Amino acid sequence: MRARAEDLRRDGRRIAVVPTMGALHDGHLALVRHARARADIVILTLFVNPTQFGPTEDLSRYPRDEVGDLAKARPAGIDLAFCPPASAMYPAGAQTFVEVRDLQQPMCGASRPGHFAGVATIVSKLFNITLPHLAVFGEKDYQQLAIIRRMVRDLDFDIEISSVPIVRESDGLALSSRNAYLTPEQRTAALALSRGLAAVETAFRAGERSSAALLAAARAPIESESLARIDYVELRDADELTPFATTVDRPAVLALAVVVGATRLIDNRVLE
Ligand code: PAF
Repeated sequence: MRARAEDLRRDGRRIAVVPTMGALHDGHLALVRHARARADIVILTLFVNPTQFGPTEDLSRYPRDEVGDLAKARPAGIDLAFCPPASAMYPAGAQTFVEVRDLQQPMCGASRPGHFAGVATIVSKLFNITLPHLAVFGEKDYQQLAIIRRMVRDLDFDIEISSVPIVRESDGLALSSRNAYLTPEQRTAALALSRGLAAVETAFRAGERSSAALLAAARAPIESESLARIDYVELRDADELTPFATTVDRPAVLALAVVVGATRLIDNRVLE
């Protein structure tokens, strides 16, 4: 892959990479189309990265469908797909990890210890292998995007990071590969996440700036849904991911993680 990328760069081609764990949905295809419009060559990576899953998480049952993924990605505009086996990405004795010290701590980092070290490490490796000028990520994984932007800045990766807004079903549910785990009842219950975000947005637009009141507005629809259990609902500075003491006085992100049945879903809304 790297030899190919070096050849492309030598020929003056602009390379975009779209890193994914497969199980592609329309949200991923929006990333591919975004990359297609901004580069000469689009590389899709498909790799279910073991180091970003905790010991009790869904690594073994994470949906895998390489053939189906490639069939969806080709018409969306990929030129190359990089689908390595885990043994190629993590040879025996691998012991180097990338950590973005503070941004990785709260929110998903608190519930999923080690998750973001796994993400930052694999994304660094994919960058070193695919040699992109541009890398495209979705905004649903808000904290992941913040971490990758900071990593690229701190480690002098010469790569532009571009993001694509969350793609939702018509009823508001954010697309996620993990939605495939939901039963019809859980699928309905999962709408509590987007209802919570809509409630916050309404309150914010009406002038509410109390962090406690905004958090309460987000929690209410989720707490009233019996199949949903809040992992976290947080209101944080949009860049530094630090919490607000009392008043929201700068751009913020309302981020939440909710377990519906056994499936952990995330979603967010930026408040500016
Ligand atoms: O967002 C994802 O799918 C993954 O975290 C990523 C960025 C492909 C790294 O494995």
